[in-house]
Amino acid sequence: MATPPRAAGVLPCPLQARIGHAQTMFSAPPTPQGPSGVAQEDRMTRRRQIYEGKAKILYEGPEPGTIIQYFKDDATAFNAQKKGTISGKGVLNNRISEHVFTLLGLIGIPTHFIRRLNMREQLVRQVEIIPIEVVVRNVAAGSIAKRFGIEEGTMLPRTIIEYYYKDDALGDPLVTDEHIAAFGWASQDEMHDIADMAIRVNDFMAGMFAGVGIRLVDFKLEFGRLYDGDFARVILADEISPDGCRLWDMKSGDKLDKDRFRRDLGGEVEAYQEVARRLGLLTEDESAVLDLDEHRKARGQTVGPAGGKGGPTMVPTEAPPVTMVPDPPPPATPPST
Ligand code: C5P
Repeated sequence: MATPPRAAGVLPCPLQARIGHAQTMFSAPPTPQGPSGVAQEDRMTRRRQIYEGKAKILYEGPEPGTIIQYFKDDATAFNAQKKGTISGKGVLNNRISEHVFTLLGLIGIPTHFIRRLNMREQLVRQVEIIPIEVVVRNVAAGSIAKRFGIEEGTMLPRTIIEYYYKDDALGDPLVTDEHIAAFGWASQDEMHDIADMAIRVNDFMAGMFAGVGIRLVDFKLEFGRLYDGDFARVILADEISPDGCRLWDMKSGDKLDKDRFRRDLGGEVEAYQEVARRLGLLTEDESAVLDLDEHRKARGQTVGPAGGKGGPTMVPTEAPPVTMVPDPPPPATPPST
């Protein structure tokens, strides 16, 4: 696997600036500055926050080369023009993503996932995020349906992989391999690896979801570079959850994903819960209490200073009546990352 150039080539200045920012966005992001100008620190644990995205916060991990991903309940759509909160979403996404990444690791897909730490956090390898969103589509829906005037739900004649350049200011434009190569966002070898992995992830996930009565319509992946000295290899990063997938119930056609939020359909958390339940991550109890905050609220107690959706989630000191299925035993060999 070829090592990409660490610096982008000679490009017109505005684009050069964008590329430079995007390539280092997660690997060495600018430390968020508080009002006093000092690096933001988590008030509870005094750990360093290194990035806050729309649905996740990244903290410095306990060892060099590790990051803690904290899953928020915040939801955004249409390039953050629509904002909201889906209570309990972060807990579910953490668990669903852990499940999917663990299984992908077992079939030989290298991922950044190390282990889940608690209900909202997981430990991952620090990577240099490749500024490309990789969308895999099996069925026409969302932007492709709109772009080409195809009726939603139409099976595509073959799986389609699309690439979008990660840039909020530009609205994440659709790009081709040519743009990616010309602007140096990823090398051709890296793009081959990414396309191969995306197809393998699709094959695996389509089967996994079909097995529990869910059609995998489309999903988004992100990849990152893991450096070993000057050498880099591409591994799967970010998360895989109903936030970044379209998941339709095979019988009813019900949407079990973020389109419930995007399209004001309601029942978001129930849909995410249903996905988790079918994957065997929740028991049958539909009134699952997902979180210590929710647990306290359900018992009529006020939420303490550690509560609140944006705050750090501590491992519960008392055992709430959560209905999560116990963690599976660790894989014989850790995901090869
Ligand atoms: O909106 P569009 O149809 O292009 O989305 C395709 C897939 O990619 C959907 O599953 C959507 O959830 C996901 N996606 C995402 N993040 C984005 C854009 C799309 O997770 N920024």
